Amino acid sequence: MPWALLLRVCSWAVESLEGARVATPFHVRRPGHAISAGTVGVASNSHPRHHFQREEAPMPDEQLTFELHTSEEEKQHARREPDKGFPELHWRGKRPYRSTVYYPAQLKETFGQPDENGWMNKIFWGDNLQVMSHLLKEYRGQVDLIYIDPPFDSKADYKKKIEIRGVGSAESDSSSFEEKQYGDIWTNDEYLQFMYERLILMRKLLSDKGSIYLHCDWHRSHYLRIIMDQVLGMNNFRNEIAWCYTGPAAAQNNFPRKHDTILFYSKSGDNVFNTPRIKHKSGVHNTGQLFSDSNITENLELKEQLEIQGKKLEDWWIDIWSCDRYRSELLGYPTQKPEALLERIIEASSNPGDLVFDCFMGSGTTQAVALKLGRRFLGADINLGAVHTTTKRILNIMRSSQSSDDSIQGELG
Ligand SMILES: C[S@@+](CC[C@H](N)C(=O)[O-])C[C@H]1O[C@@H](n2cnc3c(N)ncnc32)[C@H](O)[C@@H]1O
Repeated sequence: MPWALLLRVCSWAVESLEGARVATPFHVRRPGHAISAGTVGVASNSHPRHHFQREEAPMPDEQLTFELHTSEEEKQHARREPDKGFPELHWRGKRPYRSTVYYPAQLKETFGQPDENGWMNKIFWGDNLQVMSHLLKEYRGQVDLIYIDPPFDSKADYKKKIEIRGVGSAESDSSSFEEKQYGDIWTNDEYLQFMYERLILMRKLLSDKGSIYLHCDWHRSHYLRIIMDQVLGMNNFRNEIAWCYTGPAAAQNNFPRKHDTILFYSKSGDNVFNTPRIKHKSGVHNTGQLFSDSNITENLELKEQLEIQGKKLEDWWIDIWSCDRYRSELLGYPTQKPEALLERIIEASSNPGDLVFDCFMGSGTTQAVALKLGRRFLGADINLGAVHTTTKRILNIMRSSQSSDDSIQGELG
């Protein structure tokens, strides 16, 4: 990775985040201090390369309001009846989204040095409704790609196993405990309201060429698609991707549920899309055409050309395993997604230098892959444990990229 890219990256004072505790949706702790003014990775022989300057800045106490519709025209448009024949989802307690009362950027960390355009990657700690309301002031229409992997309404609590060294039985020198990272238990239909409001803000952040990928599963995918039709427009539906995997299943009277659904919408019909291609011969992707169509089989040059080009990847993906198969990636964060999945999405729907955002960040898979692929990123999570995990992950990528740059420099003399 070019060194210049590293200078754009935010990194974090990891030690300042020790003692991360759980915050669950609707119980947002307001952090007391923001940590700012760090620098990392200065490409100079005389400068320490992972140098942090920490400066504790008190959080502003000013409460602000984000209004979705500012002009009378917009307000009237929002009150209009839905188009005839347009299905709209209703749930108990459905409320129109109008505004958010928020505090400016909950806990914000920016590190590194701004690039030539003044850009620095950033990660925020807090409820993403508040974080997005804050971001809209600066990034409205600026985000090129949003990937989110929100809670699925799976009725589970997600925990991380924490190892404590030096404590434990005589046979082992370590013991462990489980720390809750985030909850996914919702009452009534608050889940749908939660997603509806956030999707509205995400749309406002998207650039005209931007796309959004919402990762979900059978629990709520059918409702979320209707909500996305409403918020983003039916015409902007691009794909319902089935990400398939396999594994043991307890299913007795139904087929094991072994795929997630990724709903892909764009802001307009003019979205960035770099068509992913796959080898013709890879398993079920073999359409046979290349091997049975005599026009092709007899023209060896054409056949070779088509083989090299590969075939367009369809909307069902069976070549990416679930994260536990990629052992070297595992960070212990529950529901972590594999980097290969994010590579596919980010490469397809953004270009180098584009701005990628994930506000249900978890272990930071989106941010890590965005960094590796030369995209800029923003991130947010309500759980300080997620902020902590992502921070370490980003720093590790920067360090290993720096040492490989160093060894190349060494080889070149
Ligand atoms: C399924 S995990 C994301 C996993 C991530 N894709 C990865 O690869 O590690 C969902 C994340 O959403 C976060 N979350 C839930 N509600 C949130 C909210 N209101 N604002 C911000 N983050 C939230 C949780 O803390 C959790 O880290």
